[in-house]
Amino acid sequence: MPLPRLAILVSGRGSNLRALLDAELPARVVGVFSSRPDAPALHIASARGVPTASQAVQDHASRAAFDEALLQQLDAWEADVIALAGYMRILTEPVLARFPERIVNIHPSLLPAFPGLHPHRQALERGVAWSGATVHLVEPGDVDGGRILAQEPVRVHPEDDEAALAARILEVEHRLYPAALRDFLAAFAA
Ligand code: GRF
Repeated sequence: MPLPRLAILVSGRGSNLRALLDAELPARVVGVFSSRPDAPALHIASARGVPTASQAVQDHASRAAFDEALLQQLDAWEADVIALAGYMRILTEPVLARFPERIVNIHPSLLPAFPGLHPHRQALERGVAWSGATVHLVEPGDVDGGRILAQEPVRVHPEDDEAALAARILEVEHRLYPAALRDFLAAFAA
């Protein structure tokens, strides 16, 4: 059985991308796609010899046109599974339809709490004692609302600001995401 062909989508720093590449997952990483041509994440991929591609949002007339270009790239790589690692765009229906139950994301909160943008700020504003990280499938419907694959709680300290909480959760993300994706890929390949 050939290894699943994994494409990773990024938009920025790429620390989760690095954790996934370092984990030597049971997959062939066929490419890293960025929605920002200047994303530092692209350098992390190229330094490891992983093919990269990017599209600038301003070069496309619509969200649909952007995702058409994304789909073309994913098809060129013959991807079967997609991992979002800090990908800051909401995927449109044609992408979701092309990869049903094959798109995985990590979100820095204990979903269903604090979906969408600024989850750390949301957690601090709500005054919760615990937040955390969630690995989930990306499915049509609510943003960050797909089936949960793995979660881990992280303590919120009273003196935390967004940066402090984000850093504490990020450490967990780097452990949780490779572990959850490893299980997901193993089940996919079985
Ligand atoms: C991470 O906190 C991830 O959970 C969220 O965006 C951040 C991306 O960070 N979706 P990085 O690019 O992986 O360093």
